[in-house]
Amino acid sequence: MKTALITGGAQRIGAQITQTLHNNDYNVIIHYRHSEKEAQALAQKLNQQRVNSATIVQAELSDISALQKLSNSIDHLDVLVNNASVFYPTPMSETNQNDWHKIINTNLMAPFFLSQSLMQVLSESDGCIINIVDIHAQRPLKNHAIYNISKAGVAMMTKTLAKELAPKIRVCGVSPGSILWPENEAELTTDQKYKMLNKIALGKQGSAIDIANTVLFLVNSPYITGQIIPVDGGRTLNQ
Ligand SMILES: NC(=O)c1ccc[n+]([C@@H]2O[C@H](COP(=O)([O-])OP(=O)(O)OC[C@H]3O[C@@H](n4cnc5c(N)ncnc54)[C@H](OP(=O)(O)O)[C@@H]3O)[C@@H](O)[C@H]2O)c1
Repeated sequence: MKTALITGGAQRIGAQITQTLHNNDYNVIIHYRHSEKEAQALAQKLNQQRVNSATIVQAELSDISALQKLSNSIDHLDVLVNNASVFYPTPMSETNQNDWHKIINTNLMAPFFLSQSLMQVLSESDGCIINIVDIHAQRPLKNHAIYNISKAGVAMMTKTLAKELAPKIRVCGVSPGSILWPENEAELTTDQKYKMLNKIALGKQGSAIDIANTVLFLVNSPYITGQIIPVDGGRTLNQ
């Protein structure tokens, strides 16, 4: 039985990746930060489908010691999905170093050092790393400079690690377009949503399943490494 670790795997897109890999015979380690109830409920559901197939692990990934503790608890791994991320506007006139550290450490530093600390176990299984990037890694979203920079870093990390960790470990990425509306501090107005939908060639948001199925495709593609697949309904055609 193969094992996958999904960061931020308890809700939204991460939860769908967790379920899709589980449906395809992976045991899953569901990482969460605050969503303990959601992580427990998901693990319980998956363990009812297959005994001892899902565990949960808590870590604040912007804290390097918590990240190392998480890695040290794993002695076998086939797939690492770097999905956890933080997203909110950081207009240049208002942003500060706290925003920089929070976003860069969560979105870029954590996937990098998780990949480093898990590369030994991943190489023992000829495993792979799938980074969840963003179409804004290439074309910036206005007023989100730090997020854009963090995801551009993740895109380059995908390519540079694919080169460095080959041939034992493959490293690929999935770049979502608009899949689920942001919540809380990043929430959009109805007008902003309407404008965004108008830019999508297929005229609608994607679903978390679209992202999870692409992750599964890459996991099952042993001759693909260093590639990042946009899943955006054609939105980048109009950017
Ligand atoms: N939603 C979209 O339409 C969209 C579009 C483009 C790209 N993406 C990318 O797709 C991925 C998933 O998107 P999403 O919207 O489902 O993500 P999300 O809900 O914004 O965040 C996913 C999880 O990340 C975890 N997280 C955040 N900060 C953390 C930290 N410092 N340490 C540990 N965990 C942390 C949270 O876990 P807890 O809940 O446990 O705290 C959260 O549930 C992300 O990489 C995102 O950038 C999404």
